[in-house]
Amino acid sequence: MTELQRRYRQAIGRFATGVTVITTQDGDRLVGMTASAVASLSLEPPLLLVCISNRLPTHRALEQSRQFGVNVLGEGDDALALRFATPSDDKFAGLDVHLDHGVPLLDRAIARFVCDVHECLPGGDHSIFIGAIRHCEHVPGRRPLLYFASGFGGIQQVHDALGRTAELLGMTGI
Ligand SMILES: Cc1cc2nc3c(=O)[nH]c(=O)nc-3n(C[C@H](O)[C@H](O)[C@H](O)COP(=O)(O)O)c2cc1C
Repeated sequence: MTELQRRYRQAIGRFATGVTVITTQDGDRLVGMTASAVASLSLEPPLLLVCISNRLPTHRALEQSRQFGVNVLGEGDDALALRFATPSDDKFAGLDVHLDHGVPLLDRAIARFVCDVHECLPGGDHSIFIGAIRHCEHVPGRRPLLYFASGFGGIQQVHDALGRTAELLGMTGI
């Protein structure tokens, strides 16, 4: 790793994110991986994006299945994040999962999105999968798991400034 790459990893780690598990199926096998490089992309139409390393089995599975789930992890689910970040054949063992929308969805997630692969763009050693959202849902009142400087944490205080800003900008119902 070059000095610039090392500094980049450290600096980008200061950009706090949520933590998701990206899921799909490889034939009958359930596939999933932890991802923090997830962002909202568009509202009309509803699109999101996720960046996935080209060398991962999940990358190959997504290219085949052309659909994926995005499961947003809740506060305290650090172990789940680590489980899905470690290569294994049975990452889903003992977890409550449903397949109602054609992709594995984790019951413990605080929000879930079901996406069709809209586009897959190259991005260095990763690919940017753009997902067209087919279904989504969330569990009100649950706090998110956060990822910051290579560690997990949670929100200590939800500041209501966001609510006031949203009101000022005319954004309701967020
Ligand atoms: C908090 C966290 C966030 C991660 N985010 C990403 C990501 O956005 N994209 C990615 O390609 N890998 C990411 N990883 C690494 C993958 O989860 C890891 O390589 C995993 O083994 C992939 O699963 P697979 O080998 O079964 O495909 C992340 C790992 C952690 C712990």
